[in-house]
Amino acid sequence: MTKKQEYTGDCPDKTLYLPGPTEVRDDVIEAMAEPMFGHRMDRMTDLYTTIVEDTKEFLGTDDDVIVLTASGTEFWEATTLNLVEDRMLVPTSGSFSERQANVAERLGKEVDRIEYDWGKAVKPEDVRDALESSDEGYDAVGVVMNETSTGVRNPVEEIGDLLGDYPDTYFVVDAISCLGGDRIDIEAHNIDCIFTSTQKAFAMPPGLAVCTVSDAAYERELDKESASWYGGFQRCLDYYDRKGQTHSTPAIPIMLAYRKQMKHMLEEGHEARDQRHREMAEYTREWAREHFGLFPEEGYESQTVTCVENTRDINVAETVEAVSEEYDMVFSSGYGDISEESFRIGHMGEHTVESIKELTDAIEDVAGL
Ligand SMILES: Cc1ncc(COP(=O)(O)O)c(C=O)c1O
Repeated sequence: MTKKQEYTGDCPDKTLYLPGPTEVRDDVIEAMAEPMFGHRMDRMTDLYTTIVEDTKEFLGTDDDVIVLTASGTEFWEATTLNLVEDRMLVPTSGSFSERQANVAERLGKEVDRIEYDWGKAVKPEDVRDALESSDEGYDAVGVVMNETSTGVRNPVEEIGDLLGDYPDTYFVVDAISCLGGDRIDIEAHNIDCIFTSTQKAFAMPPGLAVCTVSDAAYERELDKESASWYGGFQRCLDYYDRKGQTHSTPAIPIMLAYRKQMKHMLEEGHEARDQRHREMAEYTREWAREHFGLFPEEGYESQTVTCVENTRDINVAETVEAVSEEYDMVFSSGYGDISEESFRIGHMGEHTVESIKELTDAIEDVAGL
């Protein structure tokens, strides 16, 4: 049984190179320290409409946007409940895509998986084959854009393009560990819903989940007999239309942080942010190739999380610990079964090539490279 460990706040600050939560700017943290106000006050309408409309502008979409008090997991549930009546197709290639499939099963849906080894990417032709060979078809295809456990970036654009031939199948994209750091044209690729959590490449504190909703996805939920209540598209979006607020009490301080950070993101611009993330990923990959190897299949490496293959057989857990102790920098061991076989560097949000280099220098020092 877990015992209480009194939290004293007496902990050294660590620079986060995790695949989320990641570093948050000081002024974004400070933005949370406002006196509280009510979620039905005009001020709330100002705040919520600002963050929703700024997010649409940043993402470059006319689709609706929901910002909900929840972690990103909520949108695995909500998109499944709102769009899937019977069957869903979920390609699985790592822990998070497996979990997406598990969530849909737990919600009573029939789930067909296309199973790949960890480190492999989803292949669009396999998705087409599965759609073609299914007698009854699928209500939705769910793909994890950035498999955080393996550092694989799946080709969701191509999958979305082929889904254009299947208008009754909705396309749900979990972009939790990359949206905001890996630009994607949502409408050009038939994406009905794409979602993230604020603690990842948006570089905000955790506690809010963001999801886009196409008109077709909204209409689909209206046709269904049952759907999500808390994450219901209708409930969230109709409330926004009528009042510019959320249907229940939101995490107001985190929304204040969101407002501040989204202004920074708009100022930088989505293109420039994408480019900065590309440069960080290229630097990290080059470093990994020089000293170790790369875990993901070649050509499908993530732009926000590099999963390094531990070809030198270093002790990953000890290295992570020593870098934290000696340099106050935190990166991640490999996920689950590949915890010693790999390690992960999150280069997302506010990081730069220079800050990532500080981490790789620290790893080199500790691991004696
Ligand atoms: C790809 C992916 N999906 C889902 C999740 C779950 O997100 P959350 O913890 O915000 O619910 C994560 C978290 O790391 C993730 O990386």
